[in-house]
Amino acid sequence: MGRILERLDALYAISPTRVGGSPQEDAAHRLAAEWMAEAGLEVEVDSAGNTFGRRGGGNVWVGSHLDSVPDGGRFDGALGVVAGIEAAERSRGPLTVVAFRDEERGCAGSRACVAAGRLPEAYLELHIEQGPVLEQAGAPLGVVTAIFGQVQGEVVFAGRADHAGTTPIDRRADALVDAAEFVLRVRQAARPGTVATVGRLEVEPGATNVVPSRVSVSVDARASTSAELDALGERIGFEPLRRTEPVAMSDPPLAAFRAVVPGAPELVSGAGHDAAILAAAGAPCGMLFVRSLNDGISHSPRELSSEADVERGLTALVAALARIGG
Ligand code: GLV
Ligand code: MN
Ligand code: MN
Repeated sequence: MGRILERLDALYAISPTRVGGSPQEDAAHRLAAEWMAEAGLEVEVDSAGNTFGRRGGGNVWVGSHLDSVPDGGRFDGALGVVAGIEAAERSRGPLTVVAFRDEERGCAGSRACVAAGRLPEAYLELHIEQGPVLEQAGAPLGVVTAIFGQVQGEVVFAGRADHAGTTPIDRRADALVDAAEFVLRVRQAARPGTVATVGRLEVEPGATNVVPSRVSVSVDARASTSAELDALGERIGFEPLRRTEPVAMSDPPLAAFRAVVPGAPELVSGAGHDAAILAAAGAPCGMLFVRSLNDGISHSPRELSSEADVERGLTALVAALARIGG
């Protein structure tokens, strides 16, 4: 097995659950820092906990994130960091490999870079596709042209705790029944080309024999244009806590990826990425997707890319870096 897959296994062995800010995410960053140092990179950790490995003074960054969703897969995020370190081993130019913190819950690490005014001249991210398009097209790699925008937030329903056996149905204030209607509204708000998801419900007091008194419902809604995102948010009817605008990938990284994988399919990413945060702040960003197997399943331990496709992705990343001077 090649070094990239061995390292992805080593990160997964820390835990398949490396939520932002957890000891497991910390351990993943320490391990990546060791690999960066072995690759001859000068390691620095910023105040947000992002790990950088630098060579030379260039402002070309390559990387991704090391946190995961609960019980996530081996490739999401980790591939971009491990491949970035490998790309540093296979190239000579100035380059910064970056491992961002806490991407999955809203890209806290890359947002902290933007807030600190710390931006690359160009950012390249290799990422597993997390969908079925490349597998269906029979293509190992795909060039990302744009990333969906997102709104996320939390809606709270209040009711009254009461006895599940003695309270007549028409005398209840059941917060979960109201929340259930809202979940269906979220689903119906998503028109073709947009998506909307309730992924978490917190029910209080959470006992089988008590009428629910309080339910908190997460909302995650995405669209490819700002206008569609506005309309989707209005159909759902909630106040987002966080918004990321849809962004386009741009040259020179986009042109470099197009040049090194001529004829590769071009995709719009429904998944969010640190590249979206940096691009929205004005950095030229490019992403290359590696084919997902297993029908594109992701955010799951079944997430998979083949070793041959990972190697193709790395070769393309190194070639793209050479084109833009990394
Ligand atoms: C990150 O994986 C996201 O798209 O939420
Ligand atoms: Mn990711
Ligand atoms: Mn993810």
